[in-house]
Amino acid sequence: MLLIEDLTVEVGNKRVIEGLSLHIPEKETHLLFGPNGSGKTSLIMAIIGAPSYKVIKGRIIFKDVDVTDLPTNERVKLGMGVAFQMPPVIRGVRLKDVLRIHTESLSKGGVMDQMNKMGLSAQFLDRDINYGFSGGEIKRSELLQLMFQKPEFTMFDEPDSGVDIENMEVVGKALGELLEGRSGLVITHMGYILKYIKATKAHVLIDRSIRCSSDPQAIFKQIMECGYGRCVECLS
Ligand SMILES: Nc1ncnc2c1ncn2[C@@H]1O[C@H](COP(=O)(O)OP(=O)(O)OP(=O)(O)O)[C@@H](O)[C@H]1O
Ligand SMILES: [Mg+2]
Repeated sequence: MLLIEDLTVEVGNKRVIEGLSLHIPEKETHLLFGPNGSGKTSLIMAIIGAPSYKVIKGRIIFKDVDVTDLPTNERVKLGMGVAFQMPPVIRGVRLKDVLRIHTESLSKGGVMDQMNKMGLSAQFLDRDINYGFSGGEIKRSELLQLMFQKPEFTMFDEPDSGVDIENMEVVGKALGELLEGRSGLVITHMGYILKYIKATKAHVLIDRSIRCSSDPQAIFKQIMECGYGRCVECLS
């Protein structure tokens, strides 16, 4: 599904990814852990092709297509999707405008069912994307949009950050649904959502590159108990 070979990326003249390789086979979900500022979000931005993230070296292959130089919209057409860590406010574009791209009629196609499931009232449909949304509402609105987009490969950048304990179940179930039978990459610091995701592998990104890949539960337990210090020790 996704193959990254020896990737080096710069943004604003800062090297944020260096010599990183990663393989996510079809129908697999992988987790990505790493300390703040290690390059996790930068990796997702490079995979989706955000213009300011410049690939200096290496290749990104998605579904056997070299997408390294493809614009974001072409990557999305091929089947990529993202739930951003900090989704932008988009004035003048209502939530229903985005949902209409994916569904013929807002009164049909279970739109309200999905909205209810995500704990968002019908009023959100007429609001500009993320404008004045609370942190938790932004996260749930991102997932709602992905429910209609149904990407084959979805990257979730801290979908659980800022989400209260009751909504964690809503978010966890949505992730489980979005990843069922598909592929994905999930960044999390908290681990609450892990029980909803069937992850096959976890990676630890430290200082711009993946330094360790192993069983998700084993890696998560180790990080919870010893922090990333133990990972760094193990590598040195
Ligand atoms: N446009 C930019 N200009 C300069 N530095 C940047 C830019 N974008 C990101 N960086 C830097 O690159 C580093 C990696 O950032 P990134 O957002 O990928 O970290 P992260 O692993 O996602 O961290 P977090 O867990 O805090 O979300 C950080 O030090 C960040 O300040
Ligand atoms: Mg980040």
